[in-house]
Amino acid sequence: MTFATVFSLNLLLVVSCISYSAQFNKSGNVALLKDKGGLVAPGFSCLLVNCSLPTTTCLLDSSCREAVHCNSECQGKTNEEACNLLCELTYGYNSSKYRHLLQCMSDHGCLPVSPPDGICVANDSSTIKNLTSLSQIKGKWWILRGLNCGQRGWPAAFDYFPCQRDEFVPLGTHNDVWVDHIAYCGGRNNTCSTPILYTVANVSITKPGVMNHVYTDPPLTPQIEEWRVLSWPHPDWMLYIYCGATPTGPYAGGSVVTRADSGKDVGVIPVYVEIEFRSVAKQFGFNYDEMCVSNVTSCSD
Ligand SMILES: *[C@@H]1O[C@H](CO)[C@@H](O)[C@H](O)[C@H]1NC(C)=O
Ligand SMILES: *[C@@H]1O[C@H](CO)[C@@H](O)[C@H](O)[C@H]1NC(C)=O
Ligand SMILES: *[C@@H]1O[C@H](CO)[C@@H](O)[C@H](O)[C@H]1NC(C)=O
Ligand SMILES: *[C@@H]1O[C@H](CO)[C@@H](O)[C@H](O)[C@H]1NC(C)=O
Ligand SMILES: *[C@@H]1O[C@H](CO)[C@@H](O)[C@H](O)[C@H]1NC(C)=O
Ligand SMILES: *[C@@H]1O[C@H](CO)[C@@H](O)[C@H](O)[C@H]1NC(C)=O
Ligand SMILES: *[C@@H]1O[C@H](CO)[C@@H](O)[C@H](O)[C@H]1NC(C)=O
Ligand SMILES: *[C@@H]1O[C@H](CO)[C@@H](O)[C@H](O)[C@H]1NC(C)=O
Repeated sequence: MTFATVFSLNLLLVVSCISYSAQFNKSGNVALLKDKGGLVAPGFSCLLVNCSLPTTTCLLDSSCREAVHCNSECQGKTNEEACNLLCELTYGYNSSKYRHLLQCMSDHGCLPVSPPDGICVANDSSTIKNLTSLSQIKGKWWILRGLNCGQRGWPAAFDYFPCQRDEFVPLGTHNDVWVDHIAYCGGRNNTCSTPILYTVANVSITKPGVMNHVYTDPPLTPQIEEWRVLSWPHPDWMLYIYCGATPTGPYAGGSVVTRADSGKDVGVIPVYVEIEFRSVAKQFGFNYDEMCVSNVTSCSD
């Protein structure tokens, strides 16, 4: 194949990554540039006009190409946003070329804005008030139950990723700025579809019970989440809600977490803690017993 052919084939992959409705067509490539109504996909001219250099640079780099190809395979999936995130963490994470391309597309409005994934069920005034310093929750917390699980309206299933944990580590001693080292694998229901992936956020407590997360390594900046602790009946058990956004749209979820070693098995949640979580969940309009359950007992990291 000539360079020009390789280039145009790969360009089409990029286009398919940004164009929700474009269809892959094995025999021709024209269809790829058309949406269901037969119009040229809106992102395509935007990409050509505004991001041709980052696109070329990306396509000449194998890991950037791989990430873009991975994105192209997410298109049209119900969990498209989560799928794109996994592509970034698996293939694009260390590729500055990939980040530049995505950021260029975002900055110029070439990416479609997605509808909200999940509902933000709590605001800052809904939190418990006795979490005021991150030193109170230092350590590794495992996610045992989740709210964003792939049900209708919550397609990403962010909270059903297997082996998901947060580790709160102090950044320095001068103030209360901490880092959350997050790990999980892609997939759901205890079955990993990717290796363990890592991402990092700066965390600070902005109001009692409210943790502000600013991701330091997201595919698109800024990515900010407010975590609102709704229940903390035992030092090692928490129920929180998170409401976040990236430049392509808002999302939300929530989790039951523990840092108790014995608590890695969801079965050992103290009875009074579970009664409290069930009651708090009801107050905020969701059902504790319908939250998706993860068994992290055999997760290694
Ligand atoms: C692929 O695209 C070509 C040209 O647009 C079209 O004639 C053909 O029917 C398409 N094939 C499929 C499987 O959609
Ligand atoms: C190029 O980017 C600008 C914003 O920087 C945007 O207004 C314009 O619509 C983009 N071009 C195309 C063809 O979409
Ligand atoms: C990114 O690079 C770091 C340092 O070389 C490496 O430890 C990590 O595994 C890489 N991450 C990915 C997703 O390739
Ligand atoms: C926060 O949520 C509570 C219900 O939990 C509601 O009564 C209150 O009006 C909300 N406050 C704001 C500022 O939205
Ligand atoms: C999760 O996997 C188990 C088997 O490992 C299966 O019995 C269960 O139905 C699955 N649950 C969901 C919600 O897919
Ligand atoms: C995270 O915190 C460090 C140290 O305070 C800071 O240098 C960096 O800019 C922060 N990153 C983001 C994305 O806010
Ligand atoms: C936080 O305060 C609540 C009362 O509002 C109390 O029941 C709970 O035990 C406290 N949690 C911790 C970890 O101190
Ligand atoms: C979790 O998985 C472990 C094995 O990895 C198993 O022994 C344990 O019974 C499981 N717990 C629950 C509540 O299913």
